[in-house]
Amino acid sequence: MPPAVVTLNVTEDQHCLLIQSPSSGLSLQGNLKVPGDKSISHRALMLGAIAQGETQIQGLLLGEDPRSTASCFRAMGAEISQLNTELVTVRGIGLGQLQEPLDVLNAGNSGTTLRLMLGILASHPGRFFTVTGDSSLRSRPMSRVVKPLQQMGANIWGRKDSALAPLAIQGQQLKPIHYHSPIASAQVKSCILLAGLMVQGETTVTEPALSRDHSERMLQAFGAKLNINQETNSVTVTGLAQLQGQTVIVPGDISSAAFWLVAGAIVRGSELLIENVGVNPTRTGVLEALELMGADIRLENERLVAGEPVADLRVRYGPLKGCEIAGDLIPRLIDEIPILAAAAVFAEGTTVIRDAAELRVKESDRIAVMATQLNRMGARVTELPDGLEITGGTPLVGTDVNSHTDHRIAMSLAVAALNATGTTTIHGAEAAAISYPDFTTTLQQLCG
Ligand code: S3P
Repeated sequence: MPPAVVTLNVTEDQHCLLIQSPSSGLSLQGNLKVPGDKSISHRALMLGAIAQGETQIQGLLLGEDPRSTASCFRAMGAEISQLNTELVTVRGIGLGQLQEPLDVLNAGNSGTTLRLMLGILASHPGRFFTVTGDSSLRSRPMSRVVKPLQQMGANIWGRKDSALAPLAIQGQQLKPIHYHSPIASAQVKSCILLAGLMVQGETTVTEPALSRDHSERMLQAFGAKLNINQETNSVTVTGLAQLQGQTVIVPGDISSAAFWLVAGAIVRGSELLIENVGVNPTRTGVLEALELMGADIRLENERLVAGEPVADLRVRYGPLKGCEIAGDLIPRLIDEIPILAAAAVFAEGTTVIRDAAELRVKESDRIAVMATQLNRMGARVTELPDGLEITGGTPLVGTDVNSHTDHRIAMSLAVAALNATGTTTIHGAEAAAISYPDFTTTLQQLCG
């Protein structure tokens, strides 16, 4: 089997990933593990910091995003041991006890860090905080969390009517609300629930469709008083219950596994087993979408680990067909749309992705960037206001493409390049370190 050549060129300010696939004979084989779930890693650090006692975290993601969360909470007095995948200990300082930081809190590229943290900060009476992020995060909408927090009585200031970071927050005693979120967003839901921990009475969030529920699961495990109404997609937190440190075992991130699921499905002759992947039903939309496309994916060894469902995922190569991805499925696969778009390029027929306008305000405008970059490689992708239309079956030709500093775009283009002729050069490939620091190494190993 001729191997694909995968090289990483590091120049002064940019990493380029060069992928040169053989014209035939490459197949991906073997067992692999993906790094810890990003959403669960953030929440374990945050809840650990505001709980009483010690929290132990096994399998933490060592990506740039959780590092941002750890550094923000360290700056407010939480003792967090050196980050590693084996065991991280967090000595929490108790509800409402965060110290006023001496400097600006920097969330880097991480929307989850900034938006969830805002709920915690706004409800700390008598403390003043300033928060910011990198250039991508400073252009992303914060009003979706600032508005409901203001309804609770929060004092927050920033550019564009407090819609953009940097933001300044004067912590307040907040009041409970029932917030009907116009978007299905776990960041919005979690921000309000975290603020509600510090509010006397009942704070409720209702969302139009169910978004990931890691906050609800972990808050309950830490001892928060939560009431979940599955029929109305509502969650109520009753405030002022103290949280107790816990042991959190972080499963592998299905959003990272998705790259190998698609790689295994599109590279002829492949068979991969991805071990220890979180399969929380609010995250498994990608499995349903790939099933609609006819992919051969099986769940093995299904189990429950520390309150989260986990399985090993086996994928085998097979022909894919176009499908429609829309509606309530979207929040359950929102981060996997770039890699699903890459899969659709190799599927027979047309794939239509709709109801995904949220993609325009992620780490990049993922609708515009995926359409432009895949089309540069010869694909037939049309932008829709709220999604993409992809006509599969056109062979891809390697060329220069750009991640636009977006981790999921960098990795999706790398997977697409495995099935392209010639050499694909991915500029800005270092962005993968946000959620998957070892992505290139694993790709090199798989390509043998
Ligand atoms: C996340 C929620 C999602 C997702 C993001 C992580 C979380 O964002 O895209 O990568 O951990 O809560 P939205 O809440 O904006 O949909």
